[in-house]
Amino acid sequence: MPATVVVGTQWGDEGKGKVTDLIARDMSMVVRYQGGHNAGHTLVVDGESFALQLVPSGVLYEHVTPVIGNGVVVDPFVLLEEVATLESKGVDCSRLKVSGNAHLILPYHQELDMLTERYLGKNKLGTTKRGIGPTYADKATRVGIRVQDLLDEKIFREKLEAVLGDKNTVLTRVYNRLPTDPAELADRVLTEVVPRLAPYVSDTVGLVHDALDGDREVLFEGAQATFLDLDHGTYPFVTSSNPVAGGACTGAGVGPRHIQRVVGIAKAYITRVGAGPFPTELHDEDGDTLVDRGHEFGTNTGRRRRPGWFDAVMMRQAVRLNSLSEVAITKLDILDTFDSLKVCVAYDVGGERHEHLPYHQSDLHAAKPIYEELPGWRTDLTSARSRSDLPPEAVDYLGFLEEQIRAPVSLVGVGPGRDQFVDFGS
Ligand code: IMP
Repeated sequence: MPATVVVGTQWGDEGKGKVTDLIARDMSMVVRYQGGHNAGHTLVVDGESFALQLVPSGVLYEHVTPVIGNGVVVDPFVLLEEVATLESKGVDCSRLKVSGNAHLILPYHQELDMLTERYLGKNKLGTTKRGIGPTYADKATRVGIRVQDLLDEKIFREKLEAVLGDKNTVLTRVYNRLPTDPAELADRVLTEVVPRLAPYVSDTVGLVHDALDGDREVLFEGAQATFLDLDHGTYPFVTSSNPVAGGACTGAGVGPRHIQRVVGIAKAYITRVGAGPFPTELHDEDGDTLVDRGHEFGTNTGRRRRPGWFDAVMMRQAVRLNSLSEVAITKLDILDTFDSLKVCVAYDVGGERHEHLPYHQSDLHAAKPIYEELPGWRTDLTSARSRSDLPPEAVDYLGFLEEQIRAPVSLVGVGPGRDQFVDFGS
């Protein structure tokens, strides 16, 4: 059975959780393939809000097996707390599977993330301080500790002792901090984490292939987004993993031939958290309106997101990088109050017009948006459910986006609720 990937196409916070939840309805397995608890999905079901960081969105459906793939970095304390919160709200998490090959985020990773950011001062990246970068760095330098190491006490203690030798030198000599005692941390993890986490640990690659071989629908759920991708994003203002659709292959253990459908999620405008170039960024009242109406504050960190107009140049690149077969536009209703709307159709870089994203970062930093202006609809869209419920200006706006990004728009979100979307493709 061919698989589907859901991927963010901007700088994150596109509302992937809601679209994933909608698509997950028809799936038997939902697999997270990268990132960690730097992600934050909010789902509103029957008026109740669920904030998910690590557990895949499909957990809310009883027929879905939620899987945390090998490409994810897992803070076991956060994961267990999230499971406990979900269970206290009546959500059964017993079907959850966690890859034994996923790497663990431990307290020293978070401490180093925080200290590095502080050390960088005004040059900081604006990370979520969740230990994501230091954990992926340990994975790449082959000193990381994996979920499966928890199942062998001797190995876990040995690996922790070895890696902390190095980390403690940095913590004490570079940052003047107290060292982490390996035996104390190992005791804490082995008593507080292992008995509760062990039942979820699995060979997730085997499970994914059993599902695919058994003709069951599998959804790969990306966190963060295309322009936060370590290879293809606005480096160095990126996360440390590969959110692009190709990341699903390495982060879950499938070859590209299994993936047939790639759904890109884009907000009807753009936001970004943290530092980095942002050609269509708004510093005016329109930006404040987007932030206020869109509640653009981080689910996890509470940070105000930077707002901007929709950028078709970035989206064209996202279509290429992910082989998008369709695009879901979210939060269209946030634009309801504008008299007119701008869409960036090209960049001006030193007097030269660029239809595609300039590859050199100096050009991207210098890029000035070239806008086309479209009329707003000044109508409340939150109760629209079909294409015919949309005012002509909204249909024209979406049609213009399709033309500009060269990919079809399938779904359109018009509110936070599970049912608040328009099937635009039909
Ligand atoms: P890190 O992933 O915590 O290392 O942060 C690196 C960059 O990615 C920072 O600019 C963060 O603000 C951004 N980032 C990480 N996760 C998310 C997310 O889920 N949504 C939006 N931005 C994110």
